[in-house]
Amino acid sequence: MANRGGFSSKLGFIMAAAGSAVGLGNIWGFPYEVGQGGGAAFVVMYLIFCFLLCFPVMVTEIAIGRKSQKNAVGAFNYLGFKKWNIVGKMGILCGVLILSFYNVIAGWAFGYIFEMASSNFGIADHFGDYVLNIFRVGLYGLVFMAVTAYVVSKGVSGGIEKAAKLLMPTLLFLIVSLVLYSFTLENSMAGVKFYLIPDFSLMTGSVIYNAMGQAFFSLSLGMGALITYGSYVSKNDNIITSAAFITLADVGIALIAGLMIFPLIGYMTEGTMSEVGRGPALIFVTLPQIFGSIGGSWGAAVGTIFFVLLCFAALTSTVSLLEVPVSYVVDELNVRRKRAVWLVAGLIYLIGIPSLLGNGYSEFFSHFVTYIGADSATDFLSFMNHVANDTLLPLGGCLIVFFAAHVWKKENLDEELAQGAPNYKGSFVQKYLNFAVSYLAPIVLGTVFVLTVLSTFFGINLI
Ligand code: PFF
Repeated sequence: MANRGGFSSKLGFIMAAAGSAVGLGNIWGFPYEVGQGGGAAFVVMYLIFCFLLCFPVMVTEIAIGRKSQKNAVGAFNYLGFKKWNIVGKMGILCGVLILSFYNVIAGWAFGYIFEMASSNFGIADHFGDYVLNIFRVGLYGLVFMAVTAYVVSKGVSGGIEKAAKLLMPTLLFLIVSLVLYSFTLENSMAGVKFYLIPDFSLMTGSVIYNAMGQAFFSLSLGMGALITYGSYVSKNDNIITSAAFITLADVGIALIAGLMIFPLIGYMTEGTMSEVGRGPALIFVTLPQIFGSIGGSWGAAVGTIFFVLLCFAALTSTVSLLEVPVSYVVDELNVRRKRAVWLVAGLIYLIGIPSLLGNGYSEFFSHFVTYIGADSATDFLSFMNHVANDTLLPLGGCLIVFFAAHVWKKENLDEELAQGAPNYKGSFVQKYLNFAVSYLAPIVLGTVFVLTVLSTFFGINLI
């Protein structure tokens, strides 16, 4: 078999996996979920889910990858359970679907760099027209996909790891600079309070449930991305501590993103924290308004830096999304890496076209489906999001942990985790992971999957 390549060091792996985790989900998704779902009460739930539930899933994915040294499908074959490779196939499908629309949004963000740099803050009132200009935003998306493909084509250590090592520290620097700046604005503290002081009366079923989905998506779990990255990890590395760093980095960046955005909203709303643009429009509508109200060259500078930052975060995530199908094509279909990358990236770009058109340009894709019990139709991009993120990810996660604990068997999982982690056996961490992977995670994820399907597609809300 051809040399698959691998990460050059533990740090390289941590950076790449943290790069996968930190993305639009942290800088856009997290603050808007906090804004909609009860402020700090949401944050508390999110933290609980990340550490108690998602961390064990992450460890399991990496262990399956490292044991087999294979892609998400090949891993199940290698372990001797060919039938289970359907879970890997589902993961690859999920990666393809997520990348197809994630890239559209990343393309919008990419275009905003130029808008902010030229002080065009009025774009906030014309976001609807901006996304209607499909040739322009389509081109931005094409460029974004091409950069992603270029990085992946350079291989694991020469492309993915190198890009992450450059982009992640830069991202941290930019985000911390913006936090410090936003703290200097008037009424910034009102935002900080909303964000950090929990009001548990706001803790509804949907807050808990969204926090779970957000944690899962944000940590890139449930679709074999970390099986794939895990397959490039050295046998000497400690999977447990690596996963802990990745989780901390992801949670840390999400928390810092909140510290950047809520003070800005405090400033904009003069401390009232009214509903203003706390929804999905946050990034593309509310923030440019805020940058505009800062005014002058400061506004342009802060706005430009923000969207550069967002694109860096998105890029290390799109790279991991592309690597999942690419490693499958390279390993299983024996296609050369470069060729596989450009073919798969081109195909995914095409699959993303309906998501591009479904924001008003095409009537058909803008009102693509009407779910049972819903009053209005759902556009194609949101539909993809519901199918892939909200449904397939928790299902995939549930099946992966169930597989590891009860089919492959937890003794084998433990054996793999103990390699490179001399103190693992007999530790509290081992006991907790055994419990979480065998019972807690499959049950919670299975339940979330069923509840999501019922609520999203059939309008049946059990909680
Ligand atoms: N974790 C990424 C984010 O928060 O934006 C999205 C993502 C990347 C999800 C890779 C899944 C994945 F495999």
